[in-house]
Amino acid sequence: MNRLRRSELAVPGNNPKMIAKAATSAADLVFCDLEDAVAENEKSDAREEVVRALENLDWGTKTRAVRVNGLDDARSYEDFVVLVEGAGRFLDVVILPKVSSAEEVRWVDRLLGYLETKAGLQRRIGLELLIEGVEGLIHVEEIAKSSPRVEALVFGAGDMSASQGVRVTETLLPGDSYPGDFWHYARCKIVVAARAAKVAAVDSPYTNFNDPEGYRAECLRSYSLGYAGKWAIHPKQIVVANDVFSPSEAEVKNARAVLDAYEEATARGVGAIQIDGVLIDEGIARIMRGVLEVAGHD
Ligand code: COA
Ligand code: MG
Repeated sequence: MNRLRRSELAVPGNNPKMIAKAATSAADLVFCDLEDAVAENEKSDAREEVVRALENLDWGTKTRAVRVNGLDDARSYEDFVVLVEGAGRFLDVVILPKVSSAEEVRWVDRLLGYLETKAGLQRRIGLELLIEGVEGLIHVEEIAKSSPRVEALVFGAGDMSASQGVRVTETLLPGDSYPGDFWHYARCKIVVAARAAKVAAVDSPYTNFNDPEGYRAECLRSYSLGYAGKWAIHPKQIVVANDVFSPSEAEVKNARAVLDAYEEATARGVGAIQIDGVLIDEGIARIMRGVLEVAGHD
């Protein structure tokens, strides 16, 4: 499903105060976390808290999501059952962590189908899949196409760091010891797989929430590569992501001008023109239509 995903705000599932704040935020999507942001002894309370929050809070127009525990953890089964039975009507998307194969996604697809039928839901719950391990990265093309529920692939640099054995600090950046974009390979591979499957790609969280310039630079990098948005771990990051992942006025104006000139030329039977020494043809027109589409213009 084609939703806005410029900012996806994470909030620990056992923190009702933060969840309430997240529900009123400007994030396009909020997800309550049952996985890594929740301590072991809080897991089942968090699940109940999230069901209550989904049912009772006013979420406005934002997408309501929950990150469940990973499939290697038996508690993920209870997450699915309790969430769909308790608050399925208010749940738009399930975020599945540490996805490493298409088979796992098909299993979740089937399970969600049973639970939806039992709960009498008319709407299909969507999936966002975290690609955050080397197995998942290797199999990302099949994973992206594994189920019609898949709406987005999300790059997770934190767990990918551990899985790949890279040398980074808690900022998930290697400092000055690596030239260029440290995460270019993973980001590129994920967005290519996502686009081939006609789903969105969403970029990793940025842990240093007091570094807005660093966060913006990462947003710009992934926006340039074709990502639709980025995770936010703190409300401060939402405004930056919403800004970067919306094409600027200058981009939209340029796209319109190029398309106008191109369409005027094709009406005269000319398929290739120049504007100020730059070639414009159908290939360039396609890029410009993409800009207008992301901007929500036709
Ligand atoms: N969602 C909603 N509200 C949040 C928030 C979030 N992710 N992070 C912080 N806030 C709120 C705080 O509750 C606080 O509210 P208040 O002013 O009404 O008291 C305000 O924003 C400022 O928070 P701040 O003091 O700067 O940070 P903190 O110490 O309260 O929280 C973190 C810092 C990192 C612990 C917190 O941002 C967090 O838990 N982030 C999400 C972690 C997560 O879900 N990770 C899993 C996926 S990556
Ligand atoms: Mg993770």
